[in-house]
Amino acid sequence: MPQFADKMANAKPSAVVKVSEKVQELKKQGRNIISFSIGVPNFLPANHVYEAAHKAIDGDSGAYLPGRGSEELVDAFVKRMHEKGLDYKANEVAAAVGGKQALFNILMAVLNEGDEVLIPAPYWTSYPDMVTIHGGTPVFLNCPSTQDYKLKPEQIAKAITPKTKVFMFNNPSNPTGMVYTKDEIKAIGDELEKHDIWIISDDIYDRMIFDGETFHHFLHTNPALRDRMICVQSISKNYGMPGWRVGMVAAEEPLIKKLLTLNSTSITNINNVSMAAAAAAFGGDQTFSDEAVKTFTAKRDMVMKALANIPNLECPMPKGAFYAFPDVSAYYGKSHDGVVINDDIALCTQLLEKKGLALVPGSAFGEARGARISYACPTDQLEKGLALFTEFFAEMREQNKMAS
Ligand SMILES: Cc1ncc(COP(=O)(O)O)c(C=O)c1O
Repeated sequence: MPQFADKMANAKPSAVVKVSEKVQELKKQGRNIISFSIGVPNFLPANHVYEAAHKAIDGDSGAYLPGRGSEELVDAFVKRMHEKGLDYKANEVAAAVGGKQALFNILMAVLNEGDEVLIPAPYWTSYPDMVTIHGGTPVFLNCPSTQDYKLKPEQIAKAITPKTKVFMFNNPSNPTGMVYTKDEIKAIGDELEKHDIWIISDDIYDRMIFDGETFHHFLHTNPALRDRMICVQSISKNYGMPGWRVGMVAAEEPLIKKLLTLNSTSITNINNVSMAAAAAAFGGDQTFSDEAVKTFTAKRDMVMKALANIPNLECPMPKGAFYAFPDVSAYYGKSHDGVVINDDIALCTQLLEKKGLALVPGSAFGEARGARISYACPTDQLEKGLALFTEFFAEMREQNKMAS
């Protein structure tokens, strides 16, 4: 067999997708599985989105559309960004097949072999693999639960080398649900101003923020960063539309031109019907998304109440997205039903085998002391899953004579 490309040597398929495939396999075998694993928002967009999609099908000419995105999508996106205090013109945006392809193409456009990419950890699972596929070297900035999973500016200062090319930032965070305050954004922004590196701001959960807190962006606090800022958006999480596969990028024109070249040589344009639906989501009434935030806040509270009753777990309060990331490491080295739980993988495997509950091991996000709970599942499933989770740790404490 001929050889594969060297750049594929270290690339792994998404760990989250692997867990959800395992869940599907067990379900097919007849097991009753509750999944806290996948980041599918579990709400549907409002009627105006579907109406726009139907209209697009009815009026379809079957033609190619611009790689930047249809005029209506670009206009709706520019308007939405403006409402967030992020001013970009139509020539400063480009569409992609979801936020994922946007990130992939951005890295393709900016990375040379050996360039270093700063990634706060815990991180979204796909970042490091995207970096290595494009010849870059991920440099992780560890942000443990003891610092609320949040990055401190001095960590950037320490990690910068002449090879640093990109800083990848995600707020609100998948997997921790952390949301940065204005002061925290400003402090990191001030540090970034000292370094001429690209900043990828993955803002795809920016509407999913709880407790009346607000989304703060580096361009709000540090507008001088505009020439190296790359804003990534998506309809997947904010609008409950992951399968429609629409992502958007806003950045200054030279970077956008590179992305348009990549679109024109790879996909030409994203799907016409999806573009119409995305334009309606960005441009139309946002109430359906606001309602989802209320539901997620209630579910977050259910999760945190259950976790608070489990001794020896640490979980900083999530303020956004739909994930919680408890530090479960106090239970490592103990056993459950005769199986030694040495790490996050052993713990999640045992939870799945014995309780039929699927979580993603924290090592998939660069923090092996934790495990990710996605609470974007129906409320009855969430209740049952939390009861199983609680029961599992109670059994561990009892079997290992741990203090309660
Ligand atoms: C932080 C983050 N960025 C990007 C993505 C990609 O999302 P999509 O390609 O569905 O827009 C995800 C999906 O889970 C994510 O959690």
